[in-house]
Amino acid sequence: MTTVHQHRVLTHCHLATMRTGGAAYGVVRDGAVAISGTQIVWVGAATDVPAEYRSWAQIDLGGRWVLPAFIDCHTHLVYAGHRMNEFEQRLLGASYADIAKQGGGILSTVFATRKASLDELIKQSNPRLTQMIGFGTGTVEIKSGYGLTVRDEIKMLTAARELGKQAQVRVSTSFLGAHALPPEFSGDADGYVTMITDEMLPEIAGLGLADAVDGFCETIGFSRAQIRKILEKACDLGLPIRLHAEQLSHLGGAELAADLGALSCDHLEYLDTAGAKAMAKAGSVAVLLPGAFYFLNETQKPPVQLLRDEGVAIAVASDCNPGSSPTTHLPLMCSMACTLFGLSVEEALAGVTRNAAKALGLGESLGQIAPGFAAELRVWGIEHPAQFAAQFGGCPPMEII
Ligand code: NIG
Ligand code: FE
Repeated sequence: MTTVHQHRVLTHCHLATMRTGGAAYGVVRDGAVAISGTQIVWVGAATDVPAEYRSWAQIDLGGRWVLPAFIDCHTHLVYAGHRMNEFEQRLLGASYADIAKQGGGILSTVFATRKASLDELIKQSNPRLTQMIGFGTGTVEIKSGYGLTVRDEIKMLTAARELGKQAQVRVSTSFLGAHALPPEFSGDADGYVTMITDEMLPEIAGLGLADAVDGFCETIGFSRAQIRKILEKACDLGLPIRLHAEQLSHLGGAELAADLGALSCDHLEYLDTAGAKAMAKAGSVAVLLPGAFYFLNETQKPPVQLLRDEGVAIAVASDCNPGSSPTTHLPLMCSMACTLFGLSVEEALAGVTRNAAKALGLGESLGQIAPGFAAELRVWGIEHPAQFAAQFGGCPPMEII
């Protein structure tokens, strides 16, 4: 990020502030934003800029739009290798679960990631991060989960932190040791869970490498009882939790995670009313992942109306990973969330800004254009905010300020 002036005012622009309670998208036409260092200090109509900010550097944005930088709150961006062969297999009729049961799927990426050195992992993952940034993303959550040994999980989380530093974007890490059962624990899932709770979690927490703890609660992942042990241990260690839940079947993971105070429950195609109510009560965000739904050619859609009725905040993310959602394109995810899941464009954009920040525990300081929030903004050559979702696949001209 190039900061030209410590104190500056963005002028001659339209703002989609993503604040609630006012106009759609929190729009302020002909607005202005005063920024001090890394923080927004004032937002309003250009005609109302207070006298104290008029001596600051004025940056004329030529009538373009300003939005909060997008937040991709669920990704598996760090991995080695690819799984293009699996896409071809699935087109011939194999399911994602079939491929996983035959030892492919997540485990195939585990083998490639274990083989890669830290440098190699960073090198392979960096182009994905560059693409994301080009699509307007300024904060990325990155999970581990393709190492599945203490050493390799640490390597993944270290790579994630390093990528953020190099690209100067905010990275939030999640430890996902319970992603798949590693071959050395074949037939002993409980043994692996014990290793996660007794060895991996304390070591990774001690190193400060994880901002949160995640798990894959699924028939091809881990049971509700196993996930409970991991999430409870994370809570004991003071780490926030999130969970891949109800993606391919209903195991009740969302209700469990919400009851433990999860920041988010993600996927949620098979979420039921009890799960949604628990999420509403806990304030857990529903992270919808239309890329995985699309790429796996699923038919069960997440219960969007139920989430709305229960007052659960909805986020949208890429799930960037080699097996179920090989994409880095967050605006395209907004488009899919609208066309496939029935979100309004405003809901989709809130899902990659305000609500995505909440899913990362940053809802009070990120993802909105408002005083006290981070000045992580993007300037777009658009005519209307709906353009992000309508012009699917493309991306309007963008500038980082
Ligand atoms: O969110 N569901 C589990 N994890 C990923 C897929 C990871 C993979 O296939 O490599 C997901 O879809
Ligand atoms: Fe995922």
